[in-house]
Amino acid sequence: MRIISVENLEEGMEIGRTIHGENGTTLLAAGVELTSRFINRLKELGIASVYIRDDAVGEIEIDDVVSERTRLEALKVTKEVMSNINLNSSSFDIQMVNDVVDNIINELLANRDIVVNVLDIRAINDFTYGHSVSVAILSIITGIAMGYDHTKLSKLAAGALLHDIGKSKFPEHLLNKVDPLNEEEEQLFQGHTIAGFEILKNIREFSLAAAHVALQHHERYDGTGYPRQLKGEGISEFARIVTVADIYDKMTTSIVGRPRCMPFQALEIIMANRGIFLDPEVVEHFMNIIALFPVGTTVLLNTGEKAVVIQTSRKHPTRPEVRVFIDRDGKLITPPYEINLVYSSNYFITRVIEEG
Ligand SMILES: [Fe+2]
Repeated sequence: MRIISVENLEEGMEIGRTIHGENGTTLLAAGVELTSRFINRLKELGIASVYIRDDAVGEIEIDDVVSERTRLEALKVTKEVMSNINLNSSSFDIQMVNDVVDNIINELLANRDIVVNVLDIRAINDFTYGHSVSVAILSIITGIAMGYDHTKLSKLAAGALLHDIGKSKFPEHLLNKVDPLNEEEEQLFQGHTIAGFEILKNIREFSLAAAHVALQHHERYDGTGYPRQLKGEGISEFARIVTVADIYDKMTTSIVGRPRCMPFQALEIIMANRGIFLDPEVVEHFMNIIALFPVGTTVLLNTGEKAVVIQTSRKHPTRPEVRVFIDRDGKLITPPYEINLVYSSNYFITRVIEEG
């Protein structure tokens, strides 16, 4: 099994891992053979990449950072909260949010060394909600890396999950607009931060610190963000964490009209903005939790051989364990052999191979 980007899928390839659509429905089950109709459907949905069965590579174990069930539950809750707010109601069931946030935190605390692999295999029609859940997960993992306790994590997570709640007050046709917003629309859009804060601060039992995430998640470390051009430590730490998670998830998700970044490209951009737009300390922790080369990625080694990443580690992000399956002349290696790049100093990854 390995990851292939949707542009490079071919008829006859077999799905390696079930792909879920909106509301947890099965879009394509593991084992299904791809037809051109299926491939077009995946493209239409904006799905970036899928796991494909590959006998030459064999089975690979992929650990989900958060179980499918909890993710779907979080998606449901976020959707419910955000669409109810949309119907002009000004409150929501905070308990529902707290419960789902607690489930995510408990699962993540049970596996403290986890490295985030691919989070971007989801349908685009779920962008807002799927994005909110991913941002919450990434923020919690960052918070754990920064030594947060459970109480602090809960507040951070609730703020992260609902950071864009103000968007529910923003006209839908503008939210889905592919072309850049004009000045007036941009002004309106920026208001989602204040609108979000207004909604959250009025909800009893929702911490003010979490509400500030909605207000401040577009502020930038150097003071060039919005709505208040806050700077450095003047921006709440929760918001500084959510900003990094938000940017990373947006860059690595495919959106119509904009190409998606691979994790290592997104991390490079985040690294470049360290201390400029983004809090340098948060970035440092964030770099450790994301797999540069997610499990299932095909890579070219300096030896000219091709390999698939089978295990990643926090300590050595550029040196995962790989399974080498094609030799330098392009011939299949049977059976493939495995090497841990941490212990094989004469091997290194030269690039990611996206094609089949
Ligand atoms: Fe936002």
